[in-house]
Amino acid sequence: MGGIKIRVDDVTVRYVDAAGHAHVPLDRVSLNIRAGEFLCLLGPSGCGKTTLLNLLAGFLRPTSGSVSIDGAEVTRPDPRHVTLFQEYGLYPWRTVLGNVLFGLQAQRVERAEGERRARAALDLVGLGDAARRFPHQLSGGMKQRVALARALVVEPDVLFMDEPFGALDTFTRGRLQDELRRIRRDRKPTIVFVTHDIDEAAYLGDRVAVMATHPGRIAALLDFPADTQFSRESARFQERRAKVYAAVREAFGEDEPTEDEIEPPVAESPLQELAAL
Ligand SMILES: Nc1ncnc2c1ncn2[C@@H]1O[C@H](COP(=O)(O)OP(=O)(O)OP(=O)(O)O)[C@@H](O)[C@H]1O
Ligand SMILES: [Mg+2]
Repeated sequence: MGGIKIRVDDVTVRYVDAAGHAHVPLDRVSLNIRAGEFLCLLGPSGCGKTTLLNLLAGFLRPTSGSVSIDGAEVTRPDPRHVTLFQEYGLYPWRTVLGNVLFGLQAQRVERAEGERRARAALDLVGLGDAARRFPHQLSGGMKQRVALARALVVEPDVLFMDEPFGALDTFTRGRLQDELRRIRRDRKPTIVFVTHDIDEAAYLGDRVAVMATHPGRIAALLDFPADTQFSRESARFQERRAKVYAAVREAFGEDEPTEDEIEPPVAESPLQELAAL
């Protein structure tokens, strides 16, 4: 694993509403993310996960503090860094294949080569047969898989993922988690992955940042030994899980998040991505 890729230095995000009340989604967060690492941001709804991811991806500027990637301050989105939004962000007027091709066209990849790679990415997420369909003809889980294919096909250097598997059934979800672990073993992108699912964080993360609310902050940072071999059934995974559960309990104490807070509904709005481009 390389040196520090992303530095988050004493970042605060603060909003003042019309009534003059301050909201602090992130309060003095500092974090170093290593090159090639898989970092999970874990926490209940409203703890500032998306806010932190938007800061890293350059969609939001902090009220104070700074974020830098490869030593350069992040001031806007960078095409080498791909963000997978919580709300898919598919283009409704493009087919599934057209959506996946989008990033490759922006990179001026030649058409035949682009199609070959886009089809391979769709096969990877199990949508090889849906290439000609349009987003409105897909289920939520299928849309999420198209968004994943679109992110992976450009082989990004940094991948920001905001609850990318939230709308998937457990079977597909497990398969894509395994696929993601394989991809990062082969290509070593730096991945920041937001989830509110404790098992998912324990299964995927080299490190897990447990976030807490009011104000939003990182309550614990768990570092797991490099070990890409463990399976879901292994004692090693059970151990990790137990450690993450313990950290969550410690972060929330009596105030443990309720089911509602850890399972927010998935909204759907391609406009967010359009606005971001
Ligand atoms: N533009 C804004 N103005 C005021 N408050 C905001 C703004 N954006 C986010 N917030 C507040 O910041 C807090 C954190 O929001 P954020 O979307 O980062 O949470 P999250 O951890 O991603 O939650 P979820 O799991 O539901 O996606 C919330 O209380 C939210 O209401
Ligand atoms: Mg969010």
